[in-house]
Amino acid sequence: MKNNTISTQMKKERAFLVGVDFEQQSKVLSVEDSLEELALLATTAGLKVIGSDFQRLSKPNPSTFIGSGKVQEIKAVSESLHADIIIFDEELSPRHFRELEEAFGQNIRVIDRTTLILDIFAQHAQTREGKLQVELAQYEYLLPRLTRAWTHLARQAGGGAGRSGSVGGVGLRGPGETQLEVDRRKIREKITRLKSDIEKVRQHRQRYRANRKRSLIPVVTLVGYTNAGKSTLLNNLTHADVYVADQLFATLDPTTRRLELAGGNALLLTDTVGFIQKLPTNLVAAFRATLEEISDSDLLLHIVDVNHPNAIQQWRSVLDTLQEIEADHIPMITILNKIDKTEDIEEIKKQYPEFSNAVTISAKNSIGIDQLLLRIKRELFETFIPISVTIPYKNGTLISLFHEFGKIDHIENNVGTVKITGSIPGRLLAEFEKFNQQQKSRDTE
Ligand code: GTP
Repeated sequence: MKNNTISTQMKKERAFLVGVDFEQQSKVLSVEDSLEELALLATTAGLKVIGSDFQRLSKPNPSTFIGSGKVQEIKAVSESLHADIIIFDEELSPRHFRELEEAFGQNIRVIDRTTLILDIFAQHAQTREGKLQVELAQYEYLLPRLTRAWTHLARQAGGGAGRSGSVGGVGLRGPGETQLEVDRRKIREKITRLKSDIEKVRQHRQRYRANRKRSLIPVVTLVGYTNAGKSTLLNNLTHADVYVADQLFATLDPTTRRLELAGGNALLLTDTVGFIQKLPTNLVAAFRATLEEISDSDLLLHIVDVNHPNAIQQWRSVLDTLQEIEADHIPMITILNKIDKTEDIEEIKKQYPEFSNAVTISAKNSIGIDQLLLRIKRELFETFIPISVTIPYKNGTLISLFHEFGKIDHIENNVGTVKITGSIPGRLLAEFEKFNQQQKSRDTE
């Protein structure tokens, strides 16, 4: 492991996981699957997972998040298993942290899913921008949650917000300030400095992107749930040397490579940070600069690990995040990856209509790559024809066809119909002919 935080300790720390199954809440994953994902996150952070438990609740307990009886139960189990850390699968408030730390005692640290993700981000950030963004997100998350135990953690830890040993103690106290107040003041100062540094890097990136736009080379961005195989595909297509690992968030910073297509067309292909369910909103905001890369793209390649038991949930979760960052209007090719490990890919496509138009590949074993390249070429370089259509809702497949293959400029929902203005690939013109208003008005002239 590289410049890490939680895992700087020589001996692997032992982690016990705690989930909550909220009644009547629509969720991407079941509590068991979410805990399994948390275990993978913990392992990625260098921890040893020694057990887990969950509680069914209608809402969080205001003081200890889970019920007090459950707290005692988990305390007893984790003590008997010699746990060093208890990780909650939900975001904890400052009060929850305080109360839980008190309940579990001096020898066990309490962290939550967000802290863990931030820690992994801190381990994997490579570029200056990535490192600054992670550090800012860590400090912003830490500030309201700063307690005695946290400052202790910060002193122990090695990277990101934790790296600054000064958070813990070096700062000089002003008159009447407690150590905690000194820590908070220093963190606020640090946040201000980081924001101004990030702004400078961001302006530089914007100038770079503006130049790239002017060069008129289309930008294609790989998106997908963490571990879906984005870096493997980028490596396969461009022979780039991007770090590939069976770990979550192996790639944090965007990597861009030029790809030449047969026939002389070229494009820029960018790898991005993996998405994950329950990605905290403040983290999405912190990575806006990286994600701007996505919003600026001409085409998204959405990679799905079709072999994963929750493939469809992961696919939806990525779409949710794309919507959150207002990138859901960009044309997208869904790519089902890892078909070398899949028994019957056609059956899966039949089972999930969402995947019916997907390209199937194995990035690792170079299966289906030629079809993928053809599809990319068609999406990017085919001639698009401007069109304005009013489609009745009952012709839903046509509406989704426009979404999938067309470029939408404006969309207007009316009673029983939807009016879409934009452009579509020439080959699809016939499908939309009878709803094409421009065509109709020309016919009646
Ligand atoms: P993050 O950086 O976490 O977002 O991951 P990523 O989407 O970039 O995934 P990455 O390319 O690092 O691959 C994750 C794991 O899946 C690695 O162990 C790859 O070797 C494996 N993998 C990728 N493509 C395939 C494939 O086609 N078949 C199989 N069997 N494994 C694959």
